[in-house]
Amino acid sequence: MEKPNIVLGVTGGIACYKALELVRLLVQDSCDVRVVMTRAAAEFVTPLSFQTLSGSPVATDLFSLTQESEIGHINLADRADLMVVAPATANVIARLAAGIADDLLTTVVLATRAPVLVVPSMNVHMLEHPLVQANLAKLRNAGYHVMEAASGYLACGYEGKGRLPEPQAIVEEARRLLRPRDLTDERIVVTAGPSREPLDPVRFFSNRSSGKMGYALARAAARRGAQVTLVSGPTALSAPEGVRTVPVVTAEEMREAVLAEFDSATAVFMAAAVADYRPRSAAGTKMKRNGKAIRLEFVPNPDIVAELGARKRQQIVVGFAAETESLMENARAKLHRKNLDLLVANDVTQEGSGFDVDTNAVTLLDRDGTATPLPVMSKDAVADRIHDWFLQYKNQSRRRGA
Ligand code: PMT
Repeated sequence: MEKPNIVLGVTGGIACYKALELVRLLVQDSCDVRVVMTRAAAEFVTPLSFQTLSGSPVATDLFSLTQESEIGHINLADRADLMVVAPATANVIARLAAGIADDLLTTVVLATRAPVLVVPSMNVHMLEHPLVQANLAKLRNAGYHVMEAASGYLACGYEGKGRLPEPQAIVEEARRLLRPRDLTDERIVVTAGPSREPLDPVRFFSNRSSGKMGYALARAAARRGAQVTLVSGPTALSAPEGVRTVPVVTAEEMREAVLAEFDSATAVFMAAAVADYRPRSAAGTKMKRNGKAIRLEFVPNPDIVAELGARKRQQIVVGFAAETESLMENARAKLHRKNLDLLVANDVTQEGSGFDVDTNAVTLLDRDGTATPLPVMSKDAVADRIHDWFLQYKNQSRRRGA
């Protein structure tokens, strides 16, 4: 998109002043920016400042006859390629989550069909409050993109999470969301989360996978136009918007669900952490304590991705490797042993990487031996880089075959 239209909603938090820098950076990044301010935001920073930096009139009032005829709330909603709300206060987050449209900003957000990026900023205790967290979860479920607040010194005097992320980071997130729908020809299967292998009716053998990496891959693929099936082990995450989700528990169930989709798929991304072994048998009743050591026997689970590697025809199979030592050596061995097209090597010992965190640091590895290390970035950003790399690989393979 050469000159994307961004509608920036500014709400009344102290971080408002940082939204001025955000406008400057977006304009410098060749975006057309229209600013909508809430009444509270205009108490912190004047509309004139935003007007000067954006070069366009600032909208503040739903009931202003002049503004409505000159700018128009539906016009703003329709012209947006992306709507950004930054900073987003607890108050506006609650109103958006409830579908309330009682001022210009909330009305435009409700009326737009463009992707919406919400960037929370508030006091650490407010952000941690279960009601705010529930409202953010509602927004995510409705398909809004919620950026993580940054941590550090807060204007209210506390240290903690709640700072508006740096304006440059918001610009990068906006650019990511403005990517073209370049996966419309793809039918993608993503696996996510752990498998659970039962020991008895109340206990199971599992691992620390939260599903965040796989869900990010599914979300990104759907946003870029792919038809996505997410085969998910048990997680605490909500099913992503626009994705068909198939819940499974054990490795055997995951295998069946993936194989049922495989023939009609164009690509499979195996981000799930599947247990390599399961107890030979699960007790029918709760195992009782008798004070003595117990010995459990484990049998190997099917290696799902290796089976896909052996069966694949036109499909591209992308595996992951979660490693705690000799990352590249082990990852290369897995790529070839399981006959994969691409492999995402994941050092799960690195800070901000691997299980149950919002960020990841991976190295992308192809069959030619090319290794592309990526820095620590959000799992959403990693997901987009994996899809870019997959498309590039597909185009290269097509050219080679032609
Ligand atoms: O879920 P998160 O908390 O966000 O964490 C993300 C992650 C660390 C789980 C993810 O980034 C990751 O690395 N996933 C792969 C985990 C894993 O099981 O790695 P592995 O090296 O043991 O397995 C290699 C590949 O074989 C994987 O693609 C795995 O899905 C697949 N496999 C493994 C065992 C098995 N029985 N069948 C399989 O298909």
